[in-house]
Amino acid sequence: MLFFGGDYNPEQWPEKVWDDDVALMRQAGITMVSLGIFAWSHLEPREGEYEFGWLDRIMDRLHDGGIRVALATPTASPPPWFTLAHPSALPVNADGVRLTHGSRDTYCASAPAYRAAARRIAAALGERYAGHPALAMWHVHNEYGTDCRCDLTAEAFRTWLRDRHGDLDVLNEAWTTAFWSQRYSDWSQIMPPRATQYLPNPAQVLDFRRFLSDELLGAFTEQRDVLRSFTPDIPVTTNFVQGGWVSVDHARWAAEVDLVAVDHYPDSAGPGAEEETAFAGDLARGWGGGSWLLMETAPNLIYTPGRMHAKEPGRLTRHSLGYVARGSRGAMYFQWRQPRGGAELFHSALVPHAGADSPVFREAVGLGRALKNLATTAGAAPPAARIAVAWDAPSWWALQGAGLPAADIDYLAAVRQAHRALFRAKRQTGFVFPGLESFPESLGAYSMIVLPHLYLVSDRAAAALGDWVAAGGHLVVGYLSGIADPAGRIRLGGYPGAFRDLLGVRAVEWHPQPPETTLLLDDGTVAGRWAERVETAGAATVALYTSGVLAGAPAITRREVGAGVAWYLSTGLDDDSLERLLGTVASEAGVGPVLEGLPRDVEAVRRDDLLYLFNHGPVAASLPLPGPAVDAVTGRPLHGAVTVAGGGCLIARLSAV
Ligand code: GLA
Repeated sequence: MLFFGGDYNPEQWPEKVWDDDVALMRQAGITMVSLGIFAWSHLEPREGEYEFGWLDRIMDRLHDGGIRVALATPTASPPPWFTLAHPSALPVNADGVRLTHGSRDTYCASAPAYRAAARRIAAALGERYAGHPALAMWHVHNEYGTDCRCDLTAEAFRTWLRDRHGDLDVLNEAWTTAFWSQRYSDWSQIMPPRATQYLPNPAQVLDFRRFLSDELLGAFTEQRDVLRSFTPDIPVTTNFVQGGWVSVDHARWAAEVDLVAVDHYPDSAGPGAEEETAFAGDLARGWGGGSWLLMETAPNLIYTPGRMHAKEPGRLTRHSLGYVARGSRGAMYFQWRQPRGGAELFHSALVPHAGADSPVFREAVGLGRALKNLATTAGAAPPAARIAVAWDAPSWWALQGAGLPAADIDYLAAVRQAHRALFRAKRQTGFVFPGLESFPESLGAYSMIVLPHLYLVSDRAAAALGDWVAAGGHLVVGYLSGIADPAGRIRLGGYPGAFRDLLGVRAVEWHPQPPETTLLLDDGTVAGRWAERVETAGAATVALYTSGVLAGAPAITRREVGAGVAWYLSTGLDDDSLERLLGTVASEAGVGPVLEGLPRDVEAVRRDDLLYLFNHGPVAASLPLPGPAVDAVTGRPLHGAVTVAGGGCLIARLSAV
């Protein structure tokens, strides 16, 4: 079975609507809903008093309708009574302002009262629904990622720091507290980063973000363990969210959930949305070690800055199957029914304000039918990729700091651009995580690895990459990589620090570029954003800067190392140039496109014996199949070339290829 459904909030509706809901869910082929995510004030209207009757009734109705439930713990939104009774559990921001209820996520994860209340409601739900036949999964909380700087947080931060650094001298050294007289002579002097006079200490900020990730993980695992004590066989997950504000290192969290679940909302209305979908799917598959679940996406409106954008017909289907192609065990949405009020009253839904007689619901019905027919593909092995891009949350956090050489350094944009270039070069791509213990062993699966802005790197990870290159790997290192150790201290002797010897280069000076500057390299490469004065020390120069003070100096280099090759990009290539270069490196590494001769607008994903073809363009495309196949949705035999309509998709099950 593939999961198909979304967030369902029956507590927002009179019970007479529930019957319609279940009937419409059946019509659409919904298989699972996420229930009760923000229902704490309905489940526990007063401290310790529970009202489960309504949840019993809807759980039963869903079960009668053949719909399974990912039952949530509602701890992302404590009720008003809780915050009034426990004001110290309200979060305090960096300016010292204590927030109050009125939105969601208004709690301090280090407050004992919050943690106790969260465990209590989780236990109450675990006890009550352990044996319920509709229960398929536990959905703990919602999108962990909040932040608090209160005194309770300060205490927890100090405990975490003692654990990480052991000794105050070690912390002083790691944080370079000799700068600006910040040397600590007692643990009690250390604070979370709070509003201060000028630039904060970047190492303090970085450790605080690591701490927050671990603190929130502790809040998750204790609920998970409570639930497991009632239902050892029911998987427990929480939905991961991506965003610049999120201080959660999902690569590390992935080991603690039974199934990686990811929310993804593309923020581009054009073809960028498909590229983002591919990016999110590949990253989630990396976190999940293959299998994962798209827990939320928008059924219709895509948020672009300042404006919502309605999906064109077919786009909901292509996006949804795009995630499935990349290993998702289904497609789930925020949300089932569009609300009448509340903060997100215009967020799209499978059943919109217009009702079921609407394009989005009709498309959902067709999609549900397709997913039902695809049920037999649910066990297909996830897509295999021989190319990976590195992802490292601490590098992201470090590059969000103040005092960097350019204010527009954007880690996420750099990683997305590398993935996008490979997507456009039609190469199947995965992710590696240099911060994980398992990183060295994970490299063996790949022939090519790209490191965009891998700013922080440990000696161990750098050495593993060196060994992997010597054994035949093709490594592309982007600027701002290898610069600092995991504490954020610069690696001395020239950039890119940890990779200098491997790459056979030494960059002695940075030349950050204004965004409007274009740098032409002598091989036609178009670049910008950044430049460096690079000296080669063993590497061959592939392209030179042609203008300004760097004219004639190396910009792109290549060094053969053992059986492999290490490339250095000291500047930011534009999309076309990066696509060309990464395509060339991939071919040198022996990794070809998923399918030869694909038109620009067509995306192909190979997953086991399935070939997913998505035509994101308006014009029908005739595509060659690598052998005889059947249409995995309709069962129709396919031979030679297939035509995929503009905006359409086709999933071919290849026979004995
Ligand atoms: C997140 C949340 C949902 C909702 C959507 C809106 O994914 O989990 O509750 O707020 O965003 O896009």
